[in-house]
Amino acid sequence: MPAIDPTPTEAAPAGRTLDVDGVTVRYGSATAVDGVSLATEPGEVVALLGPSGCGKTTLLRVIAGFVRQAGGRVLVDGAAIDHLPPNQRNIGIVFQNYALFPHMTVADNVAYGLAARGQRGPAVAQRVARMLEMVQLGAFRDRLPRQLSGGQQQRVALARALAVEPSILLLDEPFAALDRNLRLDMQIEVKRLQRQLGLTTILVTHDQDEAMSVADRIAVMNRGKVEQFDTPVAIYDRPRTLFVNGFIGTTNLLPGRVVSVADGRATIDLAAGATIALPASPEAVAGGAVQLSVRPEQLELRDGAGPGCWPVEPGLSLPLGAQLVHEVRTADGAALKIVEPRRPGPPAPPRRFCTLAAEARPSLFPRST
Ligand SMILES: Nc1ncnc2c1ncn2[C@@H]1O[C@H](COP(=O)(O)OP(=O)(O)O)[C@@H](O)[C@H]1O
Ligand SMILES: [Mg+2]
Repeated sequence: MPAIDPTPTEAAPAGRTLDVDGVTVRYGSATAVDGVSLATEPGEVVALLGPSGCGKTTLLRVIAGFVRQAGGRVLVDGAAIDHLPPNQRNIGIVFQNYALFPHMTVADNVAYGLAARGQRGPAVAQRVARMLEMVQLGAFRDRLPRQLSGGQQQRVALARALAVEPSILLLDEPFAALDRNLRLDMQIEVKRLQRQLGLTTILVTHDQDEAMSVADRIAVMNRGKVEQFDTPVAIYDRPRTLFVNGFIGTTNLLPGRVVSVADGRATIDLAAGATIALPASPEAVAGGAVQLSVRPEQLELRDGAGPGCWPVEPGLSLPLGAQLVHEVRTADGAALKIVEPRRPGPPAPPRRFCTLAAEARPSLFPRST
């Protein structure tokens, strides 16, 4: 796997800012995008992440000018672009399904946007050659799309989108049709080009790993709304809603009740059969029913009982590469996943108690009873 060079050889040009300001889209009586606001930094990659049907593509199409919003505005460098037709917005788009012209050569596909703007001659040929070099397809200029692999076709689509020197790049699930290794290569490629060009980019994806690895910030969408807009690490460590918590990474939910809050500590009785103390947070109100969200790597198995330990019934233990995943069941019937580094040697005897790891910072959510 080629490494990403964090220091571009040329200084990246200053990217544009893209602002989505309170955009709403309705199809009949259904609201596909519901008052979404997002402000990008210049040169930033923002991922729109969410389940199928949550409005990601619709929002991208509003930015591109293919869908008219019922309310709200789209601004580039502070100026509204809503009145402009798609071909005057200077926005590059790559779709999931390649969308190359099948009867045109690779070079003609890449030249398409330039030709549509009335550009002809050696300057166009030069630009096309440069774009194809950039995506490492210089030798393929005279082929037809069907003579290329899926990954190569998608690189042509990227070269075509970049040829017109767009001010913003929009990518709609561009790697979804590629197999896993190729997808990783393409993600690295896009990130490298995007940095080199300093291009403000919106990446639509339903794949949390892709969003985590490619994006500077992630907007997690649910039912037409943005539930959290934050860095990948902040979203993983401090999910603001149960939806975000469940959508990003694997997590365990432990029901409990806050017994008391004092001296900056919240004492919580877990239904699983233990009393634990956590740093006080606004969600911890004395007497309140809560759910603790704990990542599998934040739980530990123990041999014996102790403070903050609850009994568990051991289940399956699955080796997953360098990790061991344990499935256990609590006394109140909840299934928990626990991940620990896999150590060499014969398997240890099952451990019958579970506790929070010392560094664990579980997220707390109110629970309706
Ligand atoms: N042209 C359309 N006409 C009617 N409903 C649509 C249209 N396009 C999308 N929708 C609906 O809008 C919602 C959001 O769709 P979409 O933006 O494609 O979601 P995503 O890209 O997140 O999967 C879905 O409920 C979808 O069925
Ligand atoms: Mg979509």
